[in-house]
Amino acid sequence: MSRHLLVTGGAGFIGSGFVHHVLAHTDDTVTVLDKLTYAGDKTSLEGLPDARLTLVEGDVADAALVEELVGAADAVVHYAAESHNDNSLRDPSPFLRTNLVGTFTLLEAVRRHGTRYHHISTDEVYGDLPLEDPERFTEDTPYNPSSPYSATKAGSDLLVRAWVRSFGVQATISNCSNNYGPRQHVEKFIPRQITNLLDGVRPRLYGAGTNVRDWIHEEDHSSAVLRILDAGRIGETYLIGADGEKSNREVVELILQLMGRDAGDYDLVADRPGHDLRYAIDSTKLRTELGWEPAYADFEAGLAATIDWYREHEGWWRGQKDATEAAYARSGQ
Ligand code: NAD
Ligand code: DAU
Repeated sequence: MSRHLLVTGGAGFIGSGFVHHVLAHTDDTVTVLDKLTYAGDKTSLEGLPDARLTLVEGDVADAALVEELVGAADAVVHYAAESHNDNSLRDPSPFLRTNLVGTFTLLEAVRRHGTRYHHISTDEVYGDLPLEDPERFTEDTPYNPSSPYSATKAGSDLLVRAWVRSFGVQATISNCSNNYGPRQHVEKFIPRQITNLLDGVRPRLYGAGTNVRDWIHEEDHSSAVLRILDAGRIGETYLIGADGEKSNREVVELILQLMGRDAGDYDLVADRPGHDLRYAIDSTKLRTELGWEPAYADFEAGLAATIDWYREHEGWWRGQKDATEAAYARSGQ
């Protein structure tokens, strides 16, 4: 039976990918609630069927609007967030309002309406792991966030857990590793380097470039979220990852090679304060309990397709580029 989903942050990178995925793989209809901040773009939802998709421009911390939209939905999937670590180091205040007050506002509405709720979160809530170590994050790893961004995401997860236990809210949580793919803002690592190269600028690696991230294609993240929404156990947390650990240096060298440049053609710049060393996800619970598997096993092929997307969609990213690079230049990055 088809459902009506409220997807917050559905004009952002991963939220819009989820909307594309849901409309392609289910009969569900979707309302997107998105504030269209610098990170939101209506055109990320272009080409989708009008009859099954409504975009509402608004704030997840607007209680009256959220009450109305949650009242009309069968389930809520909450992606909306301030999502970039470097921005949270420059000005944490919007992170507290959107990530904490926004989540609180949604939780109160789903509590009143008894609506199914899925909370999108990040592996960064667990802090970091040592480099070159076999340990990976699991659902039992203690919370230990490092940045204002990850601290607000950790706080939002804990609100969800409290609302489940105290008020019986029908919620699940997922914590995913680093996503890549089309429609990601050029402030983030992979699209920044691709668009720099398209502009004839050398890629920029923070510190020594040895930090490790665990990459997953955004479409694999979407298929996992849909699986949890359909079959996840209420009150449970699921970690989402695709065994994609790579150092930042390895990723930049691969981008350079795929774009026909010398693999050493990059610059080392000022490190991020508090920079997490390594993230790595053990997604055994999601795979064994819910039978989920990633479809994008080949990182190089996924990265090559992502490079092609940025080459072919300059009109999508060009308007973001100057302001993003001006902000990086102010912090020597
Ligand atoms: P993004 O920055 O690309 O998109 C965020 C979206 O939320 C934008 O469309 C923005 O306009 C909207 N938004 C921001 N504040 C809002 C508000 N107050 N009200 C309504 N809408 C608002 O982010 P993303 O990278 O797509 O991340 C989406 C979610 O996934 C976040 O919750 C993030 O923590 C989580 N996540 C991201 C990654 C990753 O690698 N990018 C990995 C794991 C989890
Ligand atoms: O792990 C999940 C998280 O992944 C999400 O919760 C966040 O929303 C998402 O932004 C991402 O966080 P990171 O901080 O890991 O991603 P970012 O793309 O900012 O950086 C990835 C790595 O690359 C990190 O080690 C910092 C480094 N970096 C980043 C930029 C922008 C560089 O070396 N150079 C750069 O120019």
